[in-house]
Amino acid sequence: MNEFGGKWTDAKIEILVEYASAYLIIMNKYANRFGWNLLYFDGFAGSGYITKGSNENKKVILGAAKRILAIDEPRSFDEYYFVEKDTHNAQELKGSISSINKKVYVVNEDCNAKISSMGRFLKSPKGKNWKILAYIDPCGMQLNWNSLTSLKESNVDAWILVPTGMGVNRLLKKDGKISESWIKKLETFLGMSRLDILNNFYNQTDVFTLFGEEKVTTKTERAVEKSAELYMNRLSELFKYVTEPYVLKNSSNSIMFHFFMVSNNKNAVKIANEITNKYNNK
Ligand SMILES: C[S@@+](CC[C@H](N)C(=O)[O-])C[C@H]1O[C@@H](n2cnc3c(N)ncnc32)[C@H](O)[C@@H]1O
Repeated sequence: MNEFGGKWTDAKIEILVEYASAYLIIMNKYANRFGWNLLYFDGFAGSGYITKGSNENKKVILGAAKRILAIDEPRSFDEYYFVEKDTHNAQELKGSISSINKKVYVVNEDCNAKISSMGRFLKSPKGKNWKILAYIDPCGMQLNWNSLTSLKESNVDAWILVPTGMGVNRLLKKDGKISESWIKKLETFLGMSRLDILNNFYNQTDVFTLFGEEKVTTKTERAVEKSAELYMNRLSELFKYVTEPYVLKNSSNSIMFHFFMVSNNKNAVKIANEITNKYNNK
């Protein structure tokens, strides 16, 4: 069973379920007419259940996979593809949905490989008849930028959780002295060179000291918000439309994640924006 999250975990799932319900209402009108098949793809599917809180405040809620599988009206998806890297979680998920009479795949692999396969499939002649709603919900920086590029110009609406505060900002050390492994992680996650990353988040100034001129490196103000803007701009290089994010904060009001939805369909993003606005203002 997955253990994490505060109040945002519920909100994130509610946003997804609200969007999926609206998506299926719209697709119900068009899918038959145009011969489209509908796939739900979940890249970080979890075990099916989420445990929140600790000890006496412990609470178990249904994970997104089970919530999405429960939507039947006005129609359900034609197929469901769940990716989960942890073998135990994948088995637990498989077991808990085995009685559901729907076409479901649970794959115990790395999401990055499967996103790339999905991108290739969507560009193949067979893939042209498929519309995909994807949910990419990592707990950290496991999503590689390179994997997302395979979805460029595809028939996919994707909700993507970006660990701006929890991930990127934590690796961007104040003095700019970032270890080689962290710089590599940032490069893979953002799909940018180290020089571009450093130029985005650090300033160098000349300071006159007793011993002459010295260069001082300082981290930019509001690095979390800046990393969200940067990621949003990167997403808009792959997808025509990107929503304003739903901002996930912890109990001390620090930003942990930004939750975006991307699509090549203007109306899809309009609907998603209405939902995220509502939750941002709650
Ligand atoms: C935040 S949890 C997902 C929760 C899930 N969306 C839900 O609503 O229940 C992230 C999950 O991703 C899995 N995971 C971590 N790295 C992964 C990877 N590279 N590919 C696929 N799954 C991964 C973890 O084992 C964990 O179960």
